[in-house]
Amino acid sequence: MTIYLDNAATSHPKPACVYEAVRRALSDIGASPGRAAHRRAREADAVLSDARLKAAQLLGIDDPRTVSFTRNATESINIVLKGWLRPGDRVLISAVEHNSVVRPLSGLKSIGIQTTVVPCSERGTLRLDAFESLLDPPPRLVVLTHASNVNGGLQPVVEAARLCRAGGVPLLLDAAQTAGLQTIRAKNWDLGMLACSGHKALLGPPGVGILYVRKDLDVRPLMEGGTGSRSEEDLQPDFSPDRYESGTPNLPGIAGLAAGMAFILEEGTDALLHHELELSRRIEEGLSLNSRVRVLRPDVRGTGTVSFTVDGLNPSDIGHILDEAFDIAVRTGLHCAPLAHRTLGTFPEGTVRVSPGFSTSSTDIDYFLDSMRLLLSRQR
Ligand SMILES: Cc1ncc(COP(=O)(O)O)c(C=O)c1O
Repeated sequence: MTIYLDNAATSHPKPACVYEAVRRALSDIGASPGRAAHRRAREADAVLSDARLKAAQLLGIDDPRTVSFTRNATESINIVLKGWLRPGDRVLISAVEHNSVVRPLSGLKSIGIQTTVVPCSERGTLRLDAFESLLDPPPRLVVLTHASNVNGGLQPVVEAARLCRAGGVPLLLDAAQTAGLQTIRAKNWDLGMLACSGHKALLGPPGVGILYVRKDLDVRPLMEGGTGSRSEEDLQPDFSPDRYESGTPNLPGIAGLAAGMAFILEEGTDALLHHELELSRRIEEGLSLNSRVRVLRPDVRGTGTVSFTVDGLNPSDIGHILDEAFDIAVRTGLHCAPLAHRTLGTFPEGTVRVSPGFSTSSTDIDYFLDSMRLLLSRQR
């Protein structure tokens, strides 16, 4: 059986309740929420409301109506960047952001939106002193990834959020890697916006993400029409979540995500994080025994994701051998984060990335480490 160590891309397997929730939404409910009054439609409404409640509970959001469901974190981030920024605005981002942030901002340059990259340490942690000085004059937005998808490094978001609040600047937190693992307190931290993947540590199926927008922020939607509400009006509703949820929602995806979040609330994020951190410690220690291996250790670890390189071997060759000879799934290359690799000194080859999940066991990790030992003894 494949040892799946690519949970930072998408989690697998999901808890059994997730498969059952998807099946039930697709097979037993079938109807679309928010559009009809029949019993099946009301069941669909209940699934959607329950999912919003669970997301609010897990992410420290006070009003579930400020939780909107999108297709993924990328869509949530795009909604904010394109719906909040205007020509002439300046945005601050960290030097380890994902392409889901960097690419739309590169595109927005053509309409006069300027991006400033705040330097990070060589292990990828935001330099708070530089950050603070770049907040004056205040940019229109700050975007920070909560934890790097390359080396699992955690950013000092509580301190960064405090500085943003003091400067009156909204902070968009990209929690694609951390939602479901790290404590997130959208209200207490006074986040402006929050973007999450539904299919990673939140344990839902692909095709669903979360967007939170603080009530006082007027973020224009990317898409309009087909909300099922206020059909008599020509214009898109101006209230959340309808404002950001155009067209028929992905009910099976949202139902699966709600089940994933129920599982997390039951287990507790602390326990899930502790499990991942124990596994990543084992991976780091095991790999470091070989002097040819360089582990990209973060200053503060926020997830179980470990990246490494090997002297004289290309990351993609290692990934290929792990897959073909040992049936181990890891990711190799730039992981959609070239900026982070430039910061960490691993551009353009990238790294081998090993990301355990909630169902990964220490036996799986030992098998991976044994396989790496064999691979390295054969590939000199
Ligand atoms: C830090 C970070 N931001 C954004 C994304 C995009 O997430 P999604 O696949 O849900 O669009 C990812 C996914 O790898 C990520 O790791």
